[in-house]
Amino acid sequence: MRDKEKTKEQLVNELVEMRRRINELKSSETRREGLEEVLEHRLIALTQPVGKVGELKLTDIIDLKILQELQDGFAEAHNVASIVFELDGVPITKPGNFSEFCRLIRSTPKGAQNCQKSDAELARECASGSPSIAHCAAFEKIMGGVVPIIVGGRHIANWGIGQGVTDKLDEDKVRQYAREIEVDEEKLVAASKELRVMPREQFERFVYFLDVMARHISLLGMQNLQQARCNTKRKHMKEALQRAKDKLEIEVEKRTSELRIANEQLRKEIRERKRAEEEKEKIRAQFYQAQKIEAIGRLAGGIAHNFNNLLTTIQGYADLSKRKVDENDPLYKYLSHIHGATVRGTDLTRQLLLFSRRHPMEFASLDINRTIEYLLKMLGSLISESITVYVDLQPDLWTVRGDKGSIEQVVMNLALNARDAMPEGGRLTIKTKNVTLKKKDSEIIPESRPGEFICLSVADTGVGMDEEIIQHIFEPFFSTKEAGKGIGLGLSTVKGIIGQHEGWINVCSEPGKGSIFEVYLPAVSTAAK
Ligand SMILES: Nc1ncnc2c1ncn2[C@@H]1O[C@H](COP(=O)(O)OP(=O)(O)O)[C@@H](O)[C@H]1O
Ligand SMILES: [Mg+2]
Repeated sequence: MRDKEKTKEQLVNELVEMRRRINELKSSETRREGLEEVLEHRLIALTQPVGKVGELKLTDIIDLKILQELQDGFAEAHNVASIVFELDGVPITKPGNFSEFCRLIRSTPKGAQNCQKSDAELARECASGSPSIAHCAAFEKIMGGVVPIIVGGRHIANWGIGQGVTDKLDEDKVRQYAREIEVDEEKLVAASKELRVMPREQFERFVYFLDVMARHISLLGMQNLQQARCNTKRKHMKEALQRAKDKLEIEVEKRTSELRIANEQLRKEIRERKRAEEEKEKIRAQFYQAQKIEAIGRLAGGIAHNFNNLLTTIQGYADLSKRKVDENDPLYKYLSHIHGATVRGTDLTRQLLLFSRRHPMEFASLDINRTIEYLLKMLGSLISESITVYVDLQPDLWTVRGDKGSIEQVVMNLALNARDAMPEGGRLTIKTKNVTLKKKDSEIIPESRPGEFICLSVADTGVGMDEEIIQHIFEPFFSTKEAGKGIGLGLSTVKGIIGQHEGWINVCSEPGKGSIFEVYLPAVSTAAK
């Protein structure tokens, strides 16, 4: 039971001790931080070369608590009184180990005045840098000593010790002084008897040892100061470095984004230039093609016109001759052949003339559905029965402005080409529909533009075409058909006509899979309908 209690007690004690140590650590940490702060604030000292301290107080560079501990320890160990004070005598530390005798004297104004006078005298004397020793103004047997604290060559504080009594004090003298400074005579006599007597040489040794300590304190102060200078310098350098780094980063970021913008701009310009080049190239090619077709057209037109006159003459004389010959005469048969050939020749020249656009166009409102329905009647006789014709016409198809004969020619040419592509038979589809093209649609469909159009398509399930052929089909006199079956003017005529109607034609085909031709013609404005 007792053991247990003891353990409990021990635990409590240990706990108390631990708490005390923690508090001590905490307060020493706070003191250290406080000192560092004070040091950092002493920037005047930092801006001066090592050795010069500028405006500086002792407590700026030495922890006051350490100073107090040193002072009190020294005073008690040697049984002297001690205090650290500024140059003007203002105390820095609390007085340590003052005897009752000294306390009594200092308790009256006169006594205190005398003491201060002695202290100041001593301090003045040690300003030269070495310790000063003198006796008290009132008692020759009481010694006092002061040592300077000098940091970086500058005298910043003093450390003094006193009440070194070399011999027992004369009681009469004590009483006389007590009366002089108005203090209780008996008390002062009693206190004087308590003073410890020591030889002067011993007191002097204390003073010299005090001086050694003061020098160490001065050195410590200087080291603290230099350390603080270093720290601050390092801190400033670090800050400057960080600022430079931040600035650099901002600069780099700025330059990078400038480069990015410039790069983007450049890329855009390249894209635009490329597009412009392509556009230019396309226009140039179109211009050459147009010039070529124009020249061929003029040539063909000129020939066709004269040729037509010749044919008319031949046809006229063949007719007249036939009338003069008996139907059973072999000549009659020959003349009929001549007549037939001239009819086909006339048809051919008609095609040439159409191609050369010698026919003036007459534009009028046109319902393409009706044009197709009209043509379907004729188409029947031209197309073999193995081909199924499928028609899908959009009801309420928008009107277009066009030349009726030319549009018929377009449909016929496309339909006859489809027929020629299906010698074994197949399916021919003719469709119409209303189409509104948005800007983004027009970007996908070749040659198109935004707006309202009617689309006429002619599709077959015939032989189809490869890329190479598709490239040339709109050229005049391009034909893959055997002589007598085609002269290669159909599609170039179609293209010419559609162009004059401000439309365009697209083709989609693959060998063996058939073809589809789509003709777009602008619709008459919907507001007008
Ligand atoms: N629907 C089609 N299917 C396959 N090829 C076609 C079709 N339409 C036209 N072509 C090709 O285009 C060429 C040119 O046609 P076109 O100008 O009408 O002349 P032609 O019919 O007198 O040959 C044709 O010879 C043929 O090679
Ligand atoms: Mg043709």
